[in-house]
Amino acid sequence: MEINEQQLFDIADKAMNNAYAPYSHYQVGAAILCDNGKIYSGVNIENASFGLTNCAERTAIFKAVSEGAKQVKAIVITNGTEEMSKPCGACRQVMSEFMGSDAIVFLANNRNDYEQYTFKQILPLAFSDEDMN
Ligand code: THU
Repeated sequence: MEINEQQLFDIADKAMNNAYAPYSHYQVGAAILCDNGKIYSGVNIENASFGLTNCAERTAIFKAVSEGAKQVKAIVITNGTEEMSKPCGACRQVMSEFMGSDAIVFLANNRNDYEQYTFKQILPLAFSDEDMN
């Protein structure tokens, strides 16, 4: 599947404006390209109870799966700072449910810099359904 990287970056950047982050003031935007050819965006959505906060990556993935997508082929994660985005451990585990080893992960910042990884590079030794066989 052809990946239109610029389109994914633009959608993640635009989505970031909708981040609901009144507590951390750390805005995150994600965009994922799925096996159905569709792109879904996500933002972090915080909560006064803190623990109920949902990260941008999980928001995008849950939106996609709830609309019928089965696999994520590529993800762009960006944030409102000069530091490169880094998905938290919980998000990496959720990503592992829907991303193959060679799915593409773009980690970006607010200066249009990015780093490109494969999913297995960012979550080696992932626990998966195969471990329960
Ligand atoms: N956050 C994400 O959206 N994605 C991550 O992988 C890292 C953390 C959000 C959660 C919270 O709203 C804020 O960033 C600070 O942790």
